[in-house]
Amino acid sequence: MANTLGIIKPDAVSRKLAGNIIAKIEKSGLILRGMKVVKLSKDDAQRFYAVHESRPFYKSLVEFMTSGPVVVMVLGGHSSIERWRELMGATDPAKAKYNTIRREYGTSVEKNVVHGSDGPDTAKAEVAFFFREDEILPKGQ
Ligand code: RTP
Ligand code: MG
Repeated sequence: MANTLGIIKPDAVSRKLAGNIIAKIEKSGLILRGMKVVKLSKDDAQRFYAVHESRPFYKSLVEFMTSGPVVVMVLGGHSSIERWRELMGATDPAKAKYNTIRREYGTSVEKNVVHGSDGPDTAKAEVAFFFREDEILPKGQ
């Protein structure tokens, strides 16, 4: 029953898609346990995506992620990490399955509208990156 981190990226927020994406999350049965709107600093984005530091797309990714506000969410429920990745779809929207968020709204491999943690360790670290313990709805509420 671990929580995971979801981000509605700047491309989606600027296109006013946050509500539609949250509606899909609610319909999927994932539980919203925390949510806030934030604008990442360059340092935030660099640290958050530090795992991709050596990749050719890193600089552009940091610029993209700091280009406007994002919505960060703590998502819970049974198998939340896997279910959120499934609902997001593949990194490249053109390769994502139908009825996934990236397939429906993504416009490029970079501007793919949402982020999701990729495993239990990253989920824990990424949730803690944005949320204090008392900003997360406890399980069972
Ligand atoms: P995310 O971390 O955002 O949930 O995405 P992901 O696991 O599906 O993909 P990942 O490999 O972790 O890449 C992180 C984000 O970097 C951008 N990207 N751009 N230009 C490119 O080739 C490229 N590849 C990745 C995307 O925004 C991707 O979600
Ligand atoms: Mg990733």
